Amino acid sequence: MGVRKEAIYPVQEWEITETEFCRETNYRNETTFSLSNGYIGTRGTYEEAYPFDVDTGLEGNFVNGFYESEKIRYGEANFGSPLLSQSLLNLPNLKETRIYLGEEEFSMEAGRTEEYARVLSMKDGVLTRRLLWTSPGGRKVRIEIRRLVSFDMKHIIAMQYEILPVNFSGTVRIVSVLQADVENHTRKTNPIVDYGPFGRKLKPLELWADNTEIFYKGITQTSRLTIACGSIHTLSPSESAAAVSHEAHACDGAIYFEVQGKEGEKITLEKFICYASDRDAAEGSLDTFVSDMLRKAKARGYRQLEEKQKEYMHQFWETADIEIEGENSMELQQGIRFNLFHVFQSAGRDGRTGMGAKGLSGEGYEGHYFWDTEMYVLPVFIYTDPEVARRLLDYRYGTLEQARARARVLGHEKGALFPWRTINGEEASTYYPLGTAQYHINADIAYALALYLQATGDLSYFKEKGAELLIETARVWADAGSFAECRGGKYCICSVTGPDEYNVLVDNNFYTNLMARENLRDAVNAVAYLREQDPACLEALEKKLGFSMDEAGLWERIIENMYFPYDEARQIYPLDDGFMMRRPWDESRIPPEKRAWLYENYHPLFIMRHRMSKQADAILGMYLHSSLFTEEELRRNYDFYQEVTLHHSSLSTCIFGIVACEIGYVEEAYRYFADSARMDLDDYHNNFYAGIHAANMAGTWQAIVNGFAGLRCCNSELHFKPILPPLWKKYTFKIKYRGSLLRVCVEKDRLEFTLEKGESIQFYVHSKKVRISEEGGTYIEKV
Ligand code: BGC
Repeated sequence: MGVRKEAIYPVQEWEITETEFCRETNYRNETTFSLSNGYIGTRGTYEEAYPFDVDTGLEGNFVNGFYESEKIRYGEANFGSPLLSQSLLNLPNLKETRIYLGEEEFSMEAGRTEEYARVLSMKDGVLTRRLLWTSPGGRKVRIEIRRLVSFDMKHIIAMQYEILPVNFSGTVRIVSVLQADVENHTRKTNPIVDYGPFGRKLKPLELWADNTEIFYKGITQTSRLTIACGSIHTLSPSESAAAVSHEAHACDGAIYFEVQGKEGEKITLEKFICYASDRDAAEGSLDTFVSDMLRKAKARGYRQLEEKQKEYMHQFWETADIEIEGENSMELQQGIRFNLFHVFQSAGRDGRTGMGAKGLSGEGYEGHYFWDTEMYVLPVFIYTDPEVARRLLDYRYGTLEQARARARVLGHEKGALFPWRTINGEEASTYYPLGTAQYHINADIAYALALYLQATGDLSYFKEKGAELLIETARVWADAGSFAECRGGKYCICSVTGPDEYNVLVDNNFYTNLMARENLRDAVNAVAYLREQDPACLEALEKKLGFSMDEAGLWERIIENMYFPYDEARQIYPLDDGFMMRRPWDESRIPPEKRAWLYENYHPLFIMRHRMSKQADAILGMYLHSSLFTEEELRRNYDFYQEVTLHHSSLSTCIFGIVACEIGYVEEAYRYFADSARMDLDDYHNNFYAGIHAANMAGTWQAIVNGFAGLRCCNSELHFKPILPPLWKKYTFKIKYRGSLLRVCVEKDRLEFTLEKGESIQFYVHSKKVRISEEGGTYIEKV
């Protein structure tokens, strides 16, 4: 479990501010200040391109879905092990911009830097750096650099440089660089991966510079994907007043601007950067695509793009913001907004890409998508921006073919098995006990889809894609287990790994069996609905999938007979069949410095033989389907798992906090919440350099909305059970539900629900049915 720490940055409501340039903390800060729009991701590196080594920094520029593959070497490969890796590829850097005052190069490592502030405005989605610099030779300049990754133009990063000579007139040179000699840093971010990618993986196809524009095109060696990128500039006073030249080599190039700077007169350079891949345009027309995009951005200008960015971000915050009042609320407020900001900016929005566990903020986990998206991130989008949720589901739907192929590899004649880790839809996990064995990914995707359908009522999505996803995922469950005689004919699923990665290849993982059963139930309901309401749609699916109604009969039998491990003595659901037989964990045997990194310090068998848990597992299932359990049952199980869970995954504490709310352990819930709210902002896990923990970030939202406010969606109905943490005066949030926008405000003695948009809405507050029948209408309950 991460250790709670002091605030790293000043506590501010809407901003994260770095107050000094510091080499030691640079690597982490690059993640803090990373920007993305779900398509491009760029780390918060400095334009001067300081020569950081593998331990102090990583220039990182990524395009969602753009990866390179390497042949994976196995000491002993088993049938079905993925043969090719997928790593989000670090792409050419175009942010690099060097400034020379006469012969002196601007560098914060030389001369004197004053009035320094690098500010991430979470409200606006803009990163700004301001400083006053005195060169070793005594020239003083004010520099302000603004940067955004545009939501309005998804291929564009826009930057603006303002350089104000304070005490001199003379030559100012600005060099805008394209650096394509780049490589991934896998060695540092994932030392156990031995296949890389190491070294430069892009083969240059084209690099040219012309006037104020520079362009590069390259192709990956193994995945054979083409990337094109370029930049274009606007200088004021205008380019004609400056000498402009350029150079272009195989792997790098630059545009040079030479201006006669005047004391007190600002020089402004606007720089627009574009990335596009052969998924955006045919390889042969990528140069025109990039050029057109750059010209459009240039014509609009930096200011206009920034205005649009603000509009876009403000619209997001309008629904997604959570406000807290109370003790320490500013710190939590900042943490929550930081989390929501990163979650929002990292999600793929084009239906062809998902969202990495690290977003697009670093190379951690090779940029892979996991279940983190469906179980942690999607609920946030479903209730705040359902369109983004739909696009993320589209990504999974779009990879059904790969999932079908994977199911065949695993011996299932029907259905689809989604990969545990992936970018292109194929399994990329090299260690199946912690990878492919996490079959629960199928049920997680089905769960998120069902939640989306319930909360939006999007029937056409259900018919076009949803029903097919539910059927294909369910089919694998019907083939993965058996009605075991030794368990009284109950349906058992063996040799799977649940969410908990310290108990692997287990039989009857409680979470998996529960989620599989509900996946099957959703599939049965889907088929029954179509049979009644749209037989033609069902018929088409029967044809397309070779599906017959007999299968639904089998699913019903499994649903009725699903087996769950149960410990009579404690009256709890153990994690799996063998959990209670494992040796109790004795932390005193483990030196403190080895506790958080068990797999790096102990053989997997040592870990697996102990009765302890890395992260929320059974407890997560109980939260997701809490209506199926009594409060007493939840309490007994929570108490048990509280004892045995180490929270070695960042995905754990937020879930425990939610369940703690449900059973009235408010103080404990608050502690868990506080553990997750600033986990990344204050780097509790000491690995923020490798990228954000998107799941926990989204989990903080869930901890408030599903935890403190107790929101559940059951049979398409919303239920609230709000509580107020003792240190708070109030909290407010909004959710979208079936086209309506509901504002919820929880105070000590008062709950207020306002229908901000929509004609009417119905929901339950502590089991009492409430209906607000007109826009602007309010329901108030005294408590
Ligand atoms: C967790 C997984 C998670 C992955 C990516 C692992 O440490 O155990 O549940 O999917 O990290 O965040």
